[in-house]
Amino acid sequence: MKRTKLLIPGPVELDSEVLLAMARPMMGHRTPDFEEVLEECWRLLREVYQTRNEVAIITGSGTSAMEAAVASVIKEGDEVVSITGGKFGERLAEIASAFGAEVKRVDVEWGSTFAVEQVESAIAESNAVAITLTHNETSTGVLHDARAVGKLAREYDILFIADCITSVGGDDVRTDEWGIDLCITGSQKCLAAPPGLGFVAVSERAWEVITNNTRRRAYYLDLARYRKALARGTTPFTPSVTLIYGLRAALKKIEEEGLKARIERHRRLAKATREAARAMNLELFAEQHCASNTVTAIKIPPHLSDDDVRGVLKREYGILVAGGQAQLKGKIFRIGHMGNVTFADLVQVLSALELVLKKAGHQLEPGKGVAAAEKVFSG
Ligand SMILES: Cc1ncc(COP(=O)(O)O)c(C=O)c1O
Repeated sequence: MKRTKLLIPGPVELDSEVLLAMARPMMGHRTPDFEEVLEECWRLLREVYQTRNEVAIITGSGTSAMEAAVASVIKEGDEVVSITGGKFGERLAEIASAFGAEVKRVDVEWGSTFAVEQVESAIAESNAVAITLTHNETSTGVLHDARAVGKLAREYDILFIADCITSVGGDDVRTDEWGIDLCITGSQKCLAAPPGLGFVAVSERAWEVITNNTRRRAYYLDLARYRKALARGTTPFTPSVTLIYGLRAALKKIEEEGLKARIERHRRLAKATREAARAMNLELFAEQHCASNTVTAIKIPPHLSDDDVRGVLKREYGILVAGGQAQLKGKIFRIGHMGNVTFADLVQVLSALELVLKKAGHQLEPGKGVAAAEKVFSG
């Protein structure tokens, strides 16, 4: 099978050590040997999460962790403030509604971020028990200020539920310092592990709410079950042993690189991508002051189609970048530069993109985009 180079916001390409780790023979999941593997995963997860909280490991994609977080703390009729502004922000609000919450939305223009006063008045005018935020909104390439929301959540004594699915392990997520009570992530994004695992780091005050919430409507995704298992150094149900082998190898790679260096690499990749896009005469979708460090959304020039850009890139160069989602379908494309992406990977996509755009009749000077990226890396 011909290999496609992935520059999408997950699943990302895996290191060979991660792939090989998953070829190991099965272990019994209730054995000391496997519990050792789990222990190491928890220790390393706490490092990337910058937390002392316990982290629930769920077999399921990122959305399962979103559902676990919301369903475990919310009961029917509770008010929840949800900051939207993209497909994933919408999803958290939808999950809260699905579990009976009365959702007060703070609608944010897609591509932009919120004003703190807007969020504060939504909290002040409600009886909210929790606030939800997508830290890095993958659908628009916007990084929201989770620290500011955490501060408000503390001031108003409500829980802070943050979807950090495309930030943990790629950007700075200070779970404890920012007061994130339920910090959600997934395996196939910045952690550069295989898809299929979801994580929630849960604060003490969130555990208290969960324990006292006798009207929880979840079973498999009930975090109370995860806590009981965590106390015994295990998981409540049979975990995907194979994926956990992969996770451990991926987390070890992060430890080797160092979280600080890893975050810096992502920031440089993002800056290089933005500079290159501008040099190619392309318009960025997200506002500069809130641009994501893990995914960059770029407008498709009005005279071109999604296929002219993404289709040709895939067919002629074997490179996959992501398309727009929901109302942005056909209007933007997104370059994922998260996980193991290197400068060399980025140069490949930028160079191919220049050729694709030029061929499609877009006005640009070939080489200028790549040169702009090089400048970021050499500076
Ligand atoms: C910010 C964000 N939240 C949630 C999800 C959903 O994760 P999953 O597809 O793993 O369920 C994604 C996936 O792209 C995401 O980027």
